[in-house]
Amino acid sequence: MKTALHFLFFLSVVTICSSLELEWLESPNPTGFLRCLRSSTTDHINQLTFTSANSSYTDIYSFSARNPRFLNASGRLSPAVIVTPSAESQVQAVVICARKNDMQIRTRSGGHDFEGLSYSSTYTRPFVLLDMINLRSVIADPVAKTAIVQAGATLGEVYYWINRASGTLAFPAGVWSTVGATGLICGGGYGPLRRKYGFAADNVLDARIVDVRGNILDRKGMGEDLFWAIRGGSCSSFGVILSWKLNLVDVPSKLTIFTVTREERQTEIMYPFQTIAPVLPNELDIRCRISTVRNNASTRADGLVVQLGFTGSYLGSAEEALAIFDSRLPQLRIQRSELQEVTWIEALMQSSFFPFFSANYTPENFLDRTFLADIPTKAKSDFVRSPISVPGLNGLWDKLLEVGEGETTVIFTPYGGVLDSYPESTIPFPNRAGTLFMIYARVLWVGNTTQKLEWIRSLHDYLTPYVSSNPRRAYYNYDDLDLGANPATGMISNIAARRWGRSYFNNNFNRLIAIKTLVDPVNFFRHEQTVPTFSLIQDM
Ligand SMILES: Cc1cc2nc3c(=O)[nH]c(=O)nc-3n(C[C@H](O)[C@H](O)[C@H](O)COP(=O)(O)OP(=O)(O)OC[C@H]3O[C@@H](n4cnc5c(N)ncnc54)[C@H](O)[C@@H]3O)c2cc1C
Ligand SMILES: *[C@@H]1O[C@H](CO)[C@@H](O)[C@H](O)[C@H]1NC(C)=O
Ligand SMILES: *[C@@H]1O[C@H](CO)[C@@H](O)[C@H](O)[C@H]1NC(C)=O
Ligand SMILES: *[C@@H]1O[C@H](CO)[C@@H](O)[C@H](O)[C@H]1NC(C)=O
Ligand SMILES: *[C@@H]1O[C@H](CO)[C@@H](O)[C@H](O)[C@H]1NC(C)=O
Repeated sequence: MKTALHFLFFLSVVTICSSLELEWLESPNPTGFLRCLRSSTTDHINQLTFTSANSSYTDIYSFSARNPRFLNASGRLSPAVIVTPSAESQVQAVVICARKNDMQIRTRSGGHDFEGLSYSSTYTRPFVLLDMINLRSVIADPVAKTAIVQAGATLGEVYYWINRASGTLAFPAGVWSTVGATGLICGGGYGPLRRKYGFAADNVLDARIVDVRGNILDRKGMGEDLFWAIRGGSCSSFGVILSWKLNLVDVPSKLTIFTVTREERQTEIMYPFQTIAPVLPNELDIRCRISTVRNNASTRADGLVVQLGFTGSYLGSAEEALAIFDSRLPQLRIQRSELQEVTWIEALMQSSFFPFFSANYTPENFLDRTFLADIPTKAKSDFVRSPISVPGLNGLWDKLLEVGEGETTVIFTPYGGVLDSYPESTIPFPNRAGTLFMIYARVLWVGNTTQKLEWIRSLHDYLTPYVSSNPRRAYYNYDDLDLGANPATGMISNIAARRWGRSYFNNNFNRLIAIKTLVDPVNFFRHEQTVPTFSLIQDM
């Protein structure tokens, strides 16, 4: 039945495509795009439109290019035109005019894309950058416990305005205040409340999107399939998000936070941590940030040791937290003096600005989109479903010590809690029950970057026997072009698309392809890792 349906899509879509495909053979026309935009919007669109002829182009472009690895990078194209809409109708006009003039678009909200795909391109085809920075209002309703968040808002802005409405309401999203709420939700989005309240995408009630025809659709208008897809299955494949309606959750007026580092007994601590952390009370979030530091106890010529940094929060008192640590994670030897009772916004500041947190910071710092310095990095992710063995951990420490002090950071984020109670298909992000923890691994893009790239790939190889397989899973929000990329135009290889598609979405990738085929049959919304349509997949 399912196959028959797919085949029907295929047939109808091929007919539409064969006429529209021809359009793609024409050349992209930036001048025509600008002319179209000016004639179809009555607003002050000129002041919101930039080409390389405008002196402010570089500032606008680089302001939200959050991974400096892609600024001035060779093999990367920057946009022919940047549009920074201040009204929803202008977003509609950008989509319509881009299609008419054969221009692909990239949409940027927070600009933290790990591969810079929201603002730069590995293709040679000129494109339009749709930068949502001017559409970033956040309106929290403490009575209904909801918030309306425009696409361009950062997590810091979302957290700040929720806190202004209520100190005991929260949105379960991530850390690091300049990350865009939209990009984060589009890939799932985890944070300190994941084990108690699920992912950010689990807490979305409604969304507004501009589709390939330039129509604005809300949840009712787009239907449950598309609404499912944009909550973890990427948004850039399906349209342009204008805003979200978010569910807010309760947090206590006082909670407990901690940041402790341990530079000895690493394996003794980490081996049990892997299986204990996912079954701790749902109120406890504890992540482990692993890096290398100088320590005079080191037995190495370079003086380095592996440092484990445990950071997190407990939605309750310090005494309760301490009792949990004493009984469940005694190896950590956490002291009462290492625990601090704070408000929710203080906890968010601590985790968001970690490890640079200072007591002088105020909630207003959340509104500053330049507050956190961006560092050039290359990163990868993995999901672990059975604990890494003792020799495996020992080998991991040796591996991390191959690069210089602090040049790598690996984070273990335990899952469990309510995440165990949802099936994999609840949202496209599939890593739920059975996942012990996620691994984020990065290397700083400094010094000999060829060597850095080789090293992070060798770390990935090293981890192969210890992490998920068939497919080896990865987090879409930590996108990685090593997993493959679509060509700029034309057919897409089934095998190539499935490699990254199944890594990010596992079996949900099939449903994403079906939805993509329905809502964007011409594959207008296309970049290196957008979900392809059936008709464009070869050897299906
Ligand atoms: C320092 C740092 C900390 C992080 N912490 C966390 C964390 O705690 N938890 C977590 O889950 N993730 C975290 N991430 C990953 C983060 O969720 C992703 O990088 C996310 O994609 C960033 O969203 P953005 O809006 O900033 O990115 P962008 O670069 O603007 O966009 C990312 C993707 O979404 C698309 N997109 C953006 N806006 C729209 C729109 N309006 N409509 C359609 N498509 C759109 C882009 O085209 C691109 O494909 C972190 C990343 C960094 C760099
Ligand atoms: C960019 O330059 C064009 C052409 O000179 C002008 O019309 C437009 O207003 C400029 N854009 C901005 C944002 O200044
Ligand atoms: C990129 O180039 C611009 C202009 O030449 C320069 O000002 C900027 O510092 C460069 N940025 C990086 C990250 O190299
Ligand atoms: C090691 O460092 C600690 C604190 O930094 C210091 O107290 C101690 O004397 C040092 N030991 C040696 C052997 O240098
Ligand atoms: C950078 O590292 C690569 C791979 O390890 C090596 O081949 C190359 O010689 C190095 N380049 C420089 C300038 O050291």
